[in-house]
Amino acid sequence: MATRLTFFSSIFLVLLTSSNLVSSCVSPAISNHTFRLDCLCGPTHPPYAIPIYVEDVDLLQFAENLEYLEADFFLYGALGYGLDVVAPNLVIEGPPPIGGMKANLDNLMEGIITEFAYQEVGHLRALLLTVGAIPRPQLDLTSCNFPNIFDEAFGFQLDPPFDPYANSLNYMLASYVIPYMGLLLAGLLGVESGQDAVIRMYVYKRANITVYPYNHAVAEFTNRTSELRNRLAMCGIKDEGIIVPPELGAENRTSSNVLSANAYSISYSRTHPC
Ligand SMILES: *[C@@H]1O[C@H](CO)[C@@H](O)[C@H](O)[C@H]1NC(C)=O
Ligand SMILES: *[C@@H]1O[C@H](CO)[C@@H](O)[C@H](O)[C@H]1NC(C)=O
Ligand SMILES: *[C@@H]1O[C@H](CO)[C@@H](O)[C@H](O)[C@H]1NC(C)=O
Ligand SMILES: *[C@@H]1O[C@H](CO)[C@@H](O)[C@H](O)[C@H]1NC(C)=O
Repeated sequence: MATRLTFFSSIFLVLLTSSNLVSSCVSPAISNHTFRLDCLCGPTHPPYAIPIYVEDVDLLQFAENLEYLEADFFLYGALGYGLDVVAPNLVIEGPPPIGGMKANLDNLMEGIITEFAYQEVGHLRALLLTVGAIPRPQLDLTSCNFPNIFDEAFGFQLDPPFDPYANSLNYMLASYVIPYMGLLLAGLLGVESGQDAVIRMYVYKRANITVYPYNHAVAEFTNRTSELRNRLAMCGIKDEGIIVPPELGAENRTSSNVLSANAYSISYSRTHPC
């Protein structure tokens, strides 16, 4: 399972300071069967609000690591503090992230990222109740960790190093980097892909803007980041930038690519290598 997961987790791994991801992924933590989602009006069968298959548990625990990353990244970005303040019982004694900080967001984005952050907290609650608790991995949210990703995406060093917390646009480009996964959990998928769409819409509206102080437009940042993801996944196109040649657009007719999808406008799966 661990090797299968690494196909699409390479970017995520960059944000981890240690390799404890792999051991947490295979940890046999199983759900606390006495502690069910409080679901008074929902169906009574299956007993959990989110039905899962046993073979998905590893994958979902990997997802949990990703949710930790998203929760702390968004919480810090919007509020300046993370899960240790907002929901300390959810971190299962995992170490606090290194270097998280409040981003210099405008009011609109601060509101949206706050909402994303609390959505991730909710997802963590749901995952902890359904697939069991794993400790939060050591996350490195220092601003100097993101430049590595963008440098790798561009194939050379951006000068000065990319600062994800400098302004709303940089923060959204950094958010674009976080791999949104096509989770098997439909309930999570809806909100996660909604977040993805908001992020893509934000950067799409600014497609032609040059990212200060670099000589590269927003569209190129997304193209390079998506190319990097495809390279790391090693199985063709899994992700596309916001502007693409028409042969990658909807029905071979659009260059705009607000939503990333295949030739039939079906979402790319990111849960399996191919
Ligand atoms: C399961 O969850 C309940 C409610 O939080 C708690 O009281 C109980 O101790 C847990 N059981 C185990 C085995 O962790
Ligand atoms: C970007 O520039 C191209 C070429 O000038 C133009 O066709 C396109 O509409 C612009 N896109 C956005 C989102 O502004
Ligand atoms: C990046 O842009 C190039 C040139 O338009 C295009 O061929 C390629 O498919 C794009 N890649 C992604 C992942 O969007
Ligand atoms: C789009 O172009 C590809 C070749 O680039 C072709 O195989 C496919 O049938 C085209 N789709 C449509 C809807 O025209």
